[in-house]
Amino acid sequence: MTAALRRVVVRAPGKINLSLGVGGVDEHGYHALATVFQAVDLHETITAERADGMSLEISSDVPGEIPLNGSNLVLRAAELLRTECAVTDGAALHVHKQVPIAGGMGGGSADAAATLVALDRLWGLDLGTERLRQLGGRLGADVPFAMLGHTALGRGNGADLTPLPTRGTWTWLLAVPGGHLSTPQVFRTFDESAERSGRIPPHLPTVDERQLAALARGDLPLLAETLHNDLQAAAFALHPGLEPVVTAAKRLGAPAALVSGSGPTIAVLVEDEAQAQEIAAGLLGEGLVDSCLVVRGAEPGARVLVEE
Ligand code: C5P
Repeated sequence: MTAALRRVVVRAPGKINLSLGVGGVDEHGYHALATVFQAVDLHETITAERADGMSLEISSDVPGEIPLNGSNLVLRAAELLRTECAVTDGAALHVHKQVPIAGGMGGGSADAAATLVALDRLWGLDLGTERLRQLGGRLGADVPFAMLGHTALGRGNGADLTPLPTRGTWTWLLAVPGGHLSTPQVFRTFDESAERSGRIPPHLPTVDERQLAALARGDLPLLAETLHNDLQAAAFALHPGLEPVVTAAKRLGAPAALVSGSGPTIAVLVEDEAQAQEIAAGLLGEGLVDSCLVVRGAEPGARVLVEE
């Protein structure tokens, strides 16, 4: 245990999936994945202050509702730490959101990751990176990546991570169409479609080695060729507004575009900021998306900004 603090501020990044290979389902209902995550410079910021009880407030740069009940990942992360470490102290928590809500960009996972790191410091628990990552994995498959950040290969349910070397900075246009998609429903639609077509998903999906080479070399045309999401067809089927965005982004000159994670956010790979703005103007002008954000990867994982 280290000396306890009065106030801690931690931020954790949202992510996009540069590839997402989906395999069979395990006994907990989770699919085997081979996915390449990249953290981008949109952050969830958690402020944790000493208090007698537990409380949570939310402020947001992005539209949408976040549940304040027991399904909220900030509260679940706090409760997990209190139970695991027999903590009786409280905390007043504040979340500031930048990551699109329910957009397939891991905003809730970043909330959980930042909360675990902040409360570990505030309560002087000193659990260490590995233990925190393991606890994060119990809250959601993407939580350990929000702690690690940068670019990484995720195997198992997505929580078994290997950092990937990358060269340079990647610029993405995030095209955010209206509406939300439920992650479990997208996975279910994927399973149903595989069943109908008699396609048996691989026991262990693999990642395209060319994508790893493209990232290591900073080779944008090769990366563009290898962006791939097995959930994309399911997301297209559930949300008719998505495929037109991908098609239009490519027509407007993007090297590649795909659904991020389970959607509905579309990640558009671009050469630079100027191309991003041009494509954003086109997509907004055609009324295909509600908003566009230009982001860069790869960002570090959860980190402490203030402790006092
Ligand atoms: O881990 P997380 O809570 O983000 O996952 C949400 C849902 O997405 C799970 O309940 C499951 O239905 C689906 N999922 C899956 N296989 C994974 C990750 C998520 O089926 N590897």
